[in-house]
Amino acid sequence: MSVVGLSPRRPWKGRKVVLGVTGGIAAYKSVQVARDLTLLGADVDVVMSRSAREFVAPLSFSGVTGRPTLTELFSVDGAALHIRLGRDADVVCVAPATADFLARAAHGRADDLLTTTLLATRAPVVLCPAMNDRMFSHRQVQANLAHVRDGLGYTIAGPSRGALAVGEADGAGRMIEPWQVVEQVGRALEAPGSLDGCTVLVTAGPTREAVDAVRYVGNRSSGRQGYALAQAAWRRGADVVLVSGPTSLADPEGVRTVRVESAREMFDAVWEDLPSVDVSIFAAAVADYRPEDPSAGKLKRSDVGDELTVRLTVNPDVASGTRERRKDGSLAVGFALETDDLLENARAKLDRKGFDLIVANEASGPDSGFEVATNRVTILTADRAPAALPLLSKTDVAEAVLDAIEALRGPA
Ligand code: CTP
Repeated sequence: MSVVGLSPRRPWKGRKVVLGVTGGIAAYKSVQVARDLTLLGADVDVVMSRSAREFVAPLSFSGVTGRPTLTELFSVDGAALHIRLGRDADVVCVAPATADFLARAAHGRADDLLTTTLLATRAPVVLCPAMNDRMFSHRQVQANLAHVRDGLGYTIAGPSRGALAVGEADGAGRMIEPWQVVEQVGRALEAPGSLDGCTVLVTAGPTREAVDAVRYVGNRSSGRQGYALAQAAWRRGADVVLVSGPTSLADPEGVRTVRVESAREMFDAVWEDLPSVDVSIFAAAVADYRPEDPSAGKLKRSDVGDELTVRLTVNPDVASGTRERRKDGSLAVGFALETDDLLENARAKLDRKGFDLIVANEASGPDSGFEVATNRVTILTADRAPAALPLLSKTDVAEAVLDAIEALRGPA
């Protein structure tokens, strides 16, 4: 997944990010990280180690951040550059973080601009390790990681498994992808709010109801709104479980994603997790009906002939049917996709399904609802005036919905 159509937004907008780059082949991917953070509105100061400059030129970073790339501890900016960088930073992220860098960070070394900046900062620190899998699993590297995580409170993001440098194996050692680094930085930038430490469950996407072994009944939901909610809730500090029908989207960073196919599978997954959930958000477009008697094999045209009748039977309602499993004091949020009488229909669903808040979604128009990146919604609660939002991206709708949830929950 790449972050497309980036524009300045919460929580990156106007924030100061120090992006440390150390000497591994994954350094080329950090140019994308610097670019995306800049497009999201952050002021990005890139600090490169000497060995990082063997892999990528400082000019590549300056070209995407519009700021000088910093390399020297002793420079014309004065010996206090590291103090200014460390003091002003809202977050320090090192990607890639090599074995050598981890060793220096774990021992509090102050032998270049990046390590001195680390000692000078009190901002959250995110490290994204990248190295050969044999090096990563070495006890010394693991001991260094344990110390910076447990002793110093740094966040360790990754590595993931996958192809390493050419000719090497494909074990754990690969740097997480640029969009994942951007999300990790986003989580570090979010101030603790009322979602910090709470558990959020989101349903998303369509469901598929089998007609036979290869065909299904479904709908055009892309899952984008639910995924944006899950990702934004995680950035705000929540533990998130996403119960998703089939979509083409990547699992959101940091989120436990449970993939299901049918409404009944979605029901079972929600039933399982709901008792420990503080906020449940039902954003899935669940198929209301399923074929009563799906065929185990493929229905063959030569056998069926000119007409095929598929009899449908009603599916369980995931939100209402699991209501008794909701934890006392938890909040439930629904969506209402309507073509007519938006507010009346949405309010009726809020009452009928026991929601505390409902997001009324206009299905009409080319810029709202299924298969598009934008949405036009109105937020309704039992006793507050409806809030009609302008046309927004689905990521901005997610932030607005979470703001409304936090307002209902009250202060952290
Ligand atoms: N929902 C659900 N399980 C279903 C149907 C809907 O959990 N089988 C949830 C949706 O995720 C959404 C809310 O209920 O949060 C309303 O969904 P919507 O499709 O708008 O309403 P329906 O209940 O299907 O009602 P109708 O078809 O009459 O509009």
